[in-house]
Amino acid sequence: MSEKVFIFDTTLRDGEQVPGCKLNTKEKLDLALQLEALGVDIIEAGFPISSPGDFESVTQISKAITNATVCGLSRAVQKDIEVAAQALKFAKRPRIHTGIGTSDFHIKSKFNSNREDILARAIQCVKWARNFTDDVEFYAEDAGRTDNDYLARVVEAVIKAGATVVNIPDTTGYCLPYQYGEKIAYLVNNVSNIDKAIISCHCHNDLGLATANSIAGVISGARQIECTINGLGERAGNTSLEEVVMVIEQHKHLGFHTGIHHKQLYPMSREVSEVMRMPVQPNKAIVGSNAFSHSSGIHQDGFLKDATTYEIINPEQVGAGLSKIVLTARSGRSALAHRLQKIGYQFNRNDIDFLYEKFLQVADKKKEVEEDDLHQLARAYTPELATH
Ligand code: KIV
Ligand code: ZN
Repeated sequence: MSEKVFIFDTTLRDGEQVPGCKLNTKEKLDLALQLEALGVDIIEAGFPISSPGDFESVTQISKAITNATVCGLSRAVQKDIEVAAQALKFAKRPRIHTGIGTSDFHIKSKFNSNREDILARAIQCVKWARNFTDDVEFYAEDAGRTDNDYLARVVEAVIKAGATVVNIPDTTGYCLPYQYGEKIAYLVNNVSNIDKAIISCHCHNDLGLATANSIAGVISGARQIECTINGLGERAGNTSLEEVVMVIEQHKHLGFHTGIHHKQLYPMSREVSEVMRMPVQPNKAIVGSNAFSHSSGIHQDGFLKDATTYEIINPEQVGAGLSKIVLTARSGRSALAHRLQKIGYQFNRNDIDFLYEKFLQVADKKKEVEEDDLHQLARAYTPELATH
């Protein structure tokens, strides 16, 4: 029996913090409903004290969402927590996400404080939040650079104070996968009441390691991943939802599953990209426009013989339509024959040999050979097909 990994989506909070990605209440509400339909377990709807608009968005999302938990962010400040609780008051399953920086960088430079005072504030904020809901998540900001011993003390204390989820953010995206995995394992082995809470991974992508770190965290005992559609988020972004979900799906031997409906991943990615006006890089894993395109001759030949030679995911599995055979000067004869056949031309091997030389002349001048170019090539070679 595989174990469930909860998917906590923070596109509407950490993702929306990105310059240019700000959404109005209607846009946030529409996306929240689609995230729920996607199968997300927890939707972080916003940071209610940050602006009246965000307060309103969290309120409207709380009213509309029926199955998923709706979460609001706060600092370890009483007023923040009260405002978050007010914005969440209509939620069927409200969660308050509160916390404080625990690394020495944060303790000294941000708070001009010391470890004992920060520990006391961590306990206090969880207690305030528990006055409003039984579902309280504590974040130890910059846990990635927090000393493991001190982190374990904080985590044990906040669980004792009532935290039901403990979030271990690699806020600066600093950790290597083995280090992040060891950090989670350290908590599993050294926090006496760890069985009373779910450990959550919240990894940033500054070194391109967010997905790897989140998976390392799950392998070591975390059971919630915080992520965003298309990996949007502060600086280089957060863990990408579509990536972690498909890693778990493709590596079933790890013994985990999520509740995400995979076929909606690609449409959801496109929707978020459009609403947030943030293009998806073409080579982005799972949802990039080239993720299922084959352009070199060696790959195309193998793929056309058997798709599994060069594809570990069938694009239809994630709602991305069909794989593409793209024609460039690096393509081979089998790809050319395949594309010609798709638009209605049947040629024998000799014809293809001849056409291939003509094709290369066109391809060397262009980045990609299009359908129109193929028609021209085919018609020039076989005049009887000119009316095709
Ligand atoms: O990256 C981070 O540490 C955060 C926390 C506020 C959860 O986004
Ligand atoms: Zn973050």
